[in-house]
Amino acid sequence: MSPDVLIIGCGAAGLSLALKLADHAKVTILSKAGFDLSNTQYAQGGISVVLDEGDSLASHVEDTLVAGAGLCNPQIVDFTVSQGPTQIAWLIDQGVPFTQKMDQQGRVSYHLTREGGHSHRRVIHAEDATGRAIVSTLSAKVKAHPNIQLLERQIAIDLITGKKLGLNTSRCLGAYVLHRETGTVIAMPARFVILATGGAGKVYLYTSNPDIATGDGIAMAWRAGCRLANMEFIQFHPTCLYHPSAKSQSCLISEAVRGEGGRLLLPDGTPFMTRFDPRAELAPRDIVARAIDHEMKRLGSDCMFLDLSHKPGHFIMEHFPNIYHSCLQLGYDMVNQPIPVVPAAHYTCGGVITDRQGRTDIEGLYAIGEVAFTGLHGANRMASNSLLECLVFADATSLDILTQMEDIPPPPPLPAWDESRVTNSDEEVVVSHNWDELRRFMWDYVGIVRTTKRLERAKRRVDLLQGEISEYYSHFRVTNDLIELRNLTLVADLIIRCALQRKESRGLHYTLDYPELGAVAENTVLVP
Ligand code: FAD
Ligand code: SIN
Repeated sequence: MSPDVLIIGCGAAGLSLALKLADHAKVTILSKAGFDLSNTQYAQGGISVVLDEGDSLASHVEDTLVAGAGLCNPQIVDFTVSQGPTQIAWLIDQGVPFTQKMDQQGRVSYHLTREGGHSHRRVIHAEDATGRAIVSTLSAKVKAHPNIQLLERQIAIDLITGKKLGLNTSRCLGAYVLHRETGTVIAMPARFVILATGGAGKVYLYTSNPDIATGDGIAMAWRAGCRLANMEFIQFHPTCLYHPSAKSQSCLISEAVRGEGGRLLLPDGTPFMTRFDPRAELAPRDIVARAIDHEMKRLGSDCMFLDLSHKPGHFIMEHFPNIYHSCLQLGYDMVNQPIPVVPAAHYTCGGVITDRQGRTDIEGLYAIGEVAFTGLHGANRMASNSLLECLVFADATSLDILTQMEDIPPPPPLPAWDESRVTNSDEEVVVSHNWDELRRFMWDYVGIVRTTKRLERAKRRVDLLQGEISEYYSHFRVTNDLIELRNLTLVADLIIRCALQRKESRGLHYTLDYPELGAVAENTVLVP
């Protein structure tokens, strides 16, 4: 029996959608890794939501629009922000243990922290490991639900559409999926297919993202014929721990550390952020990341420093127990010393264009969470707005699917995966070499500060890699690493193409050749 709904990805977006549908539909949810490997699992700061009496939806909307530098879709911002309190109430109902506080009268309420760009305390969190709390709560419910089938270590390779099969429908009918242990590929049919595959931080050498963040959903949607937007807006988180062992995934130091008073210092201990923005450490991320990058280059320094040691030790350990211990394990005691920090690739603001219900350009195909471009983030995502987006659009998508469930017939039988012209690879080294090369030139040429010359240089290299990978792909059996490399290389190409099209500096895209803001704010839309 094929499922009604195939959800590719089990981070915050996929897990919450599965739970919202499962009482009414048969759901299969896929993860190419295990449950606990997703960007969601690593989320620290929390989820932005208006809960405080002194705060307002209008203020949350305004802060989001300011951070987005003229490119947010105001209707989508209104919609998302106004849904926040309901979606947080849903998470609380599921049992997510958000951190609470007690006032002097003994009244208990949720503790709200502060992050860059927010003019109020409005980030609800579970200590400094919010994502872990969400994943463990929701995944326990998913595992227990009789209508949900969970398939781990199975990677979607490509979407199957009526158009590709030459049928009388352009609808998405399912996906080809590789079982990573057995090496077999099967066609998985479904009435509705959802991309909840997260972002593409792994396209850069230094990133806060875990290994799964290879842009698979963006690449699959593009190959299937969906439009994409604003791929040039890659957010670099200003403060990841600078440490030699951080090559695979950099350890994030939450923006909440700056929200609770952390100061950025030069190596000689001088604060520097007020030279760049009156909001200093709490300016939006693009400004803080560029300031750090600027000072590192000016001084020829490997890192800057983040200092919270002026706060009492118990305050640090109470608010940031996980960050404190992670730093300590690597030899840095944040209670007594400033810690070394550098920016790293963190969030993919662009993605698969969707409407307010999560619908893409292809009937029956939805995209939710970091893979999607909804118009919420504009040219720069405000901190902690992304988990909110996952929840709000999972909810909207569930309602849209449920209204159509009765009318959509099961898909026809799908053709088997064709392996008749491929053999096992005899040169795995090609994959690992190209992977390293890609991530390094993206870091060097398509990073925080760009120029047209560097982008063109990167484009030439990515074209070469794409040629090589496509040849390799057509001769050898697919493996997890090959699928990811093929997707990452395509995503790199799409980022560079968008960056070359934008002839201005706006939000996260900063180029020395066009340092000013353009007169008109426009999205960069790529049509396949
Ligand atoms: P993810 O959580 O990344 O999940 C993607 C899922 O898709 C995974 O299960 C993966 O295995 C699966 N997958 C991918 N490709 C395939 C494929 N081809 N086949 C099968 N499965 C596939 N945002 C906030 O709002 N607040 C925060 O405090 C915050 N902190 C963060 C801290 C860190 C270190 C990082 C990296 C991000 C943080 N973010 C934060 C951003 C936020 O965590 C992500 O944007 C969000 O979790 C994305 O959720 P998602 O469900 O879209 O994708
Ligand atoms: C952080 O805790 O700094 C990450 C928040 C985010 O990326 O939204």
